[in-house]
Amino acid sequence: MTKRVAILFSGSGSNMVALIDSMTGDHPARPVVALCNTPDAPGFAKAEARGVPTELVDHRDFKGDRPAFEAVMTRTLDRYAPDIICFAGFMRILTDDFISRWQGRIINIHPSLLPKYRGLDTHARAIEAGEAEAGCTVHEVTLELDDGPILGQARVPVRPGDTAEVLAARVLEQEHRLYPAVLRRFAAGDHTPVHLP
Ligand code: GRF
Repeated sequence: MTKRVAILFSGSGSNMVALIDSMTGDHPARPVVALCNTPDAPGFAKAEARGVPTELVDHRDFKGDRPAFEAVMTRTLDRYAPDIICFAGFMRILTDDFISRWQGRIINIHPSLLPKYRGLDTHARAIEAGEAEAGCTVHEVTLELDDGPILGQARVPVRPGDTAEVLAARVLEQEHRLYPAVLRRFAAGDHTPVHLP
């Protein structure tokens, strides 16, 4: 049966677009909703242009009441009955309650070669540490931040003189290849990690 995919994003939504555009033909999944937590995110127009329903749950309306925010997120997601939730540049940390409810069905892309550089500013930290290599990871979301079984990684070189922005752009290109490749496999029930060179 075709899997129903919800994509959560916060900003430009380029990974969301890569996922939506990949779910055609014999792909085992289809996008059912793109949900965002910021009203002015450029990603909205991109999802709409692709005919994918969008939903806004603005975290600022909840003034720090995380459970209330998540209750609305859950209610909204439930309406679309997703089998898989893809975090694609979704910049809110969610509580254990939310994660537990969907555990095993949420995947995330993180712009580092996990387990290195969890959290923010991954590219600047990789450059600062003198890494020769950087990349991105798709992993199952579990209760620990940027942890959980690794479903795929893609690597890029760190070049002399790279700034965080230059490296981020090089990694983002690979994110757009890796995430669709992992989703296709995950939706087919195969959790074997994807490794892109
Ligand atoms: C990506 O680098 C993703 O890995 C990180 O945030 C960025 C989101 O970019 N978590 P986009 O919104 O998918 O363009």
